[in-house]
Amino acid sequence: QSSLSTFGAGKVILLGEHSVVYGHPALAGPLSQGVKARGVPSKKCQLSLPSTLSRGQRALLTLAFARAAKLVGEPPVKVSLDPELPLSVGLGSSAALSVACARLLLLAAGKEATPREAARVAWEMEQEFHGTPSGVDHTTSAEERLLLYRRTPNAAAVGRGRTVESPRPLKVVVALAGERSPTKKTVAALRERQARWPERYRRLFTEMGRLASEGAKAVEAGDLEALGDAMNVNQGLLAALGLSSPPLEEMVYRLRGLGALGAKLTGAGGDGGAVVGLFLEPEAAVVQLTRLGVRCFSSQLAGPRAP
Ligand code: MEV
Repeated sequence: QSSLSTFGAGKVILLGEHSVVYGHPALAGPLSQGVKARGVPSKKCQLSLPSTLSRGQRALLTLAFARAAKLVGEPPVKVSLDPELPLSVGLGSSAALSVACARLLLLAAGKEATPREAARVAWEMEQEFHGTPSGVDHTTSAEERLLLYRRTPNAAAVGRGRTVESPRPLKVVVALAGERSPTKKTVAALRERQARWPERYRRLFTEMGRLASEGAKAVEAGDLEALGDAMNVNQGLLAALGLSSPPLEEMVYRLRGLGALGAKLTGAGGDGGAVVGLFLEPEAAVVQLTRLGVRCFSSQLAGPRAP
């Protein structure tokens, strides 16, 4: 058996993070950046980890990998990872890693690594990483398409995504700001607030879900201005939910100042993390931000690509 290599895409949520955990739709697309996995024949099924990781990270990854490996029948392969994405910033690095590992394990076991199968195996790892994830991250990563995603009412099962076709190129700039808070913590703190004041939070989640559905329609109609406006309103609601912070707000305004049609935090939010801006021409913004020392990149999420 020769060596194998696979890829799991990172993701960016354009509309509906957090409210997606409560059953509302979210609009999310794949990044061209992600995590690569490589597998070489081995006596047993194992994950080889870089020494740069902390003990806690190693333990978590080993546990998550063991769950996925068991599901696939522990094929004799040694897996190593090569992340091209910044880890733990809200860009779905854990989901990208899970999808890359899932595809590799499936191929090593002589099975087909279809998006659905890859998502099923990756879900096993995501539950270890996040506790009660909505499933939007690994589904977007495995499907590699712009999706309007909704989790199933059964919290233990993966949800479904509907493909959203874009007649126009959908281009974004992703910029990093502040110190990242772990997703698990941000999700848990919000859960406490919503349990205390359920009616108030339910109203905001419902509105965020509506914005995601309207945003999907705007994409399909080629109305990027309407999508941008939905993103700006969504940012206001995320701030209302206590999920934004000065570094994220500053970056949001920076991107809008550079011509973004809409800009908001993406992923879990908190003290810092990733901000996404929708741009017609993202390259100039990336040059300006890089000059200012901001870690950023551009990506096309959907729509026709230049030849
Ligand atoms: C994290 O990328 C997105 C959240 O909505 C959590 C989840 O959906 O599981 C914050």
